[in-house]
Amino acid sequence: MSQPETIPASAPLHLSSHLANSSPSAISRTMKAVAERKRQGHQVLGVHLGEPDFDTPQHIKEAGIAAILGNDTHYTAMDGSPDLKDAIALKFARENDLTFTPGEIVVSASAKMMIFMALFATVEPGDEIIIPAPYWSSYIDIAQMLGASPVVIATRPQDGFRLRPEDLEDAITPRTRWLLVNSPSNPSGAVYEDEHYAPVLDVVARHPQVWLIADDIYEHLVYDGARFVTPLQVRPGLRDRTLTVNGVSKAYAMTGWRIGYGAGPEELMRAMRAILSQSTSCPSSVSQAAAAAALRGPRVAVEDYRRQYAERREIVVRELNSIPGLNCVTPAGAFYAFPSWRPLIGHVTPDGERLETDEQFCRYLLHDFGVAVIPGAPFGTPGHFRISYASAQPILREAMTRLRMACGALTT
Ligand SMILES: Cc1ncc(COP(=O)(O)O)c(C=O)c1O
Repeated sequence: MSQPETIPASAPLHLSSHLANSSPSAISRTMKAVAERKRQGHQVLGVHLGEPDFDTPQHIKEAGIAAILGNDTHYTAMDGSPDLKDAIALKFARENDLTFTPGEIVVSASAKMMIFMALFATVEPGDEIIIPAPYWSSYIDIAQMLGASPVVIATRPQDGFRLRPEDLEDAITPRTRWLLVNSPSNPSGAVYEDEHYAPVLDVVARHPQVWLIADDIYEHLVYDGARFVTPLQVRPGLRDRTLTVNGVSKAYAMTGWRIGYGAGPEELMRAMRAILSQSTSCPSSVSQAAAAAALRGPRVAVEDYRRQYAERREIVVRELNSIPGLNCVTPAGAFYAFPSWRPLIGHVTPDGERLETDEQFCRYLLHDFGVAVIPGAPFGTPGHFRISYASAQPILREAMTRLRMACGALTT
């Protein structure tokens, strides 16, 4: 028998420069810490997750099952099946008063991927992307992964965490390529209505090099009579440089189906098609059939979920604002509360640890009180933390009780 050949030891894996700046997201770090606590036998109340706790509505699941049984299980068009694109065009016309042709629409395996592709297709190292804080941390991570420079603009609680037009004007340079807006916002819940968007979009209009990504993923989750608008409804003149991103994950409780979509100028959409053709080829055919049913079908479940989020929001915000040391702007949309714990910074835990950072505060909550929340710093706004109220009321009430005990146990 011949001797096995001797293979030299492997050289270390070379990671591309794209990954030089990447690190696990705050959310995945929290998830890892929660899994570790559970593995050690501790009970954890998770109010950290950014996904609905509801099930996908029955008629949508049935559409997915019908797709499987009907052998709709082959590759589709790269940028989405004609049927789903038709449902998306209908959705934009019916809900947003916007008309898009199939060539202006692209479907992909998530809203996140739409944003990734838009930036991948258009930015060069050093290009600037303006991101108002607090922001969904993936915006920063994607920009950095592509070598672009995120330019963060802080917003203020007293402005409801909405961008001031003068701050935007000051941040724009000749290298600015994109402004990313997200209403309703993750994590602050801020909602821009016409009067909030108009002055911001007027600044964008004055700078032709600046394109706009509108991340409308939480569109259907607005409360207290707030009216959702997408930027193109407010300033249709920006159509030539706006990408409107949306998806089925949040409204229809379909995070695992992985379908997002976007509408924008044909040239940009063509560039995205080129990326799709060399990456995923197309989104899942089964998920596309289910997404089409979601967009065309009855909205009873969505409205029911929204009503339940609204009730939970009442409980969470009321409780948070009654805990000494915490205060929380009432979020007008999405399913997050983003309280400040600033007055407690520097306070000391019963174990003698002085809490200076959001990470320390959140670790204290997790380890000593079994409550999982996400630190505010990775959302660009230290001194805060994020609670998701996409959890049942008993869980939220218990989490609030523990939070009160945790804050009450701190000393100066
Ligand atoms: C602001 C925002 N945009 C996009 C997404 C991602 O949506 P999808 O599940 O379609 O990737 C999220 C998910 O947390 C989000 O919070």
